[in-house]
Amino acid sequence: MNKFVLVTGGAGYIGSHTVVALQQKGYTPIIADDFRNANEVVLKGLTQILGATPILHRIDVCDAAALNQLFEQYNFEGVIHFAAYKAVGESVEKPLAYYQNNLVGLINVLSMLEKHDVRNFVFSSSCTVYGEPKGEKEVSESTPKQAPESPYGFTKWMGEQIITDFHKSSAKSKLMNLRYFNPVGAHASALIGEYPIGKPNNLLPFVTQTAIGKHAHLTVFGDDYPTRDGSCIRDYIHVTDLAEAHVAALEFLAKAENGLLEAVNIGTGTGSSVLEIVAAFEKVTGKALPHQIGPRRAGDVVEIYANASKGQELLGWKARLTIEDAIRDAWAWENYLAASAQQ
Ligand code: WQD
Repeated sequence: MNKFVLVTGGAGYIGSHTVVALQQKGYTPIIADDFRNANEVVLKGLTQILGATPILHRIDVCDAAALNQLFEQYNFEGVIHFAAYKAVGESVEKPLAYYQNNLVGLINVLSMLEKHDVRNFVFSSSCTVYGEPKGEKEVSESTPKQAPESPYGFTKWMGEQIITDFHKSSAKSKLMNLRYFNPVGAHASALIGEYPIGKPNNLLPFVTQTAIGKHAHLTVFGDDYPTRDGSCIRDYIHVTDLAEAHVAALEFLAKAENGLLEAVNIGTGTGSSVLEIVAAFEKVTGKALPHQIGPRRAGDVVEIYANASKGQELLGWKARLTIEDAIRDAWAWENYLAASAQQ
């Protein structure tokens, strides 16, 4: 089976892990990435894991002509669309760049599906479309979406709206929004992982960078929330589980009847607090993590985690790796980066 699958943003964190999962299932991933938010070290790692250099086209998905050439060149089985900016804080400082890049990129890709009759499409969406869940902390796909807290969140919310309207206009397309919770960890080989450009916004990369000595301490953004230990709760999902969910989604779409739109939560179904992550890191690695309690971070949701049953019922997919697995793999990746930097 030599089925070509376009992976936009395939040199990024989740994209690169999905490229590995696709090849493992017999697909031929075609990466479209302009490396504005990716690093060459991931390409090196991918080559070692795949046993060959991945097929890569250095293009910007906002360049419709370049994208069109790609669809002329390959008869794609489907498209997994990751390419987008994703930093919540940065999106508040640069809203126009976020709306332009994330929405124009999506519109270009959807236009290519229509023009080239490619029917299977998976969209990298986010639990951020739920905003701060009212009452219930466990959200299912039928939990009402709310106005997100940031321009980044709105690009996912609006992205889903664009896909809904495209679905209504397109009898053939089979579309799936995967709503990620908090992706963490790295490939078990420690050859690919999350490569934050600049100071990490997200928790686990900040933890591993602190532990390796890049920061004096971790600041826990608030311990006075109405949660079991006062710190915020999230559903942290191993990036390898997340990658495999994309392949399961594609295989579901490929077998489905034409004209379909589904949203699926991709989480573990279990919440962990910031302080629990700190304790788990110290337990898994045996290293004390310097950390201090600081003020709350604006826009933080207090507690959210997935009702993940639809993923299992519809896709036959369920997260199998634990937060300890993710911490172990993220720490191995951080050490690999440190060793590479010294060479
Ligand atoms: C998690 C918790 C922080 C850093 C992110 C992305 C969002 C989406 C989901 C993809 C919060 C706390 C963090 C630190 C801390 N991803 N924290 N000290 O905000 O849930 O959302 O993942 O779609 O786009 O932004 O993740 O890792 O930033 O924060 O205390 O130095 O860790 O307050 O409670 P978040 P995060």
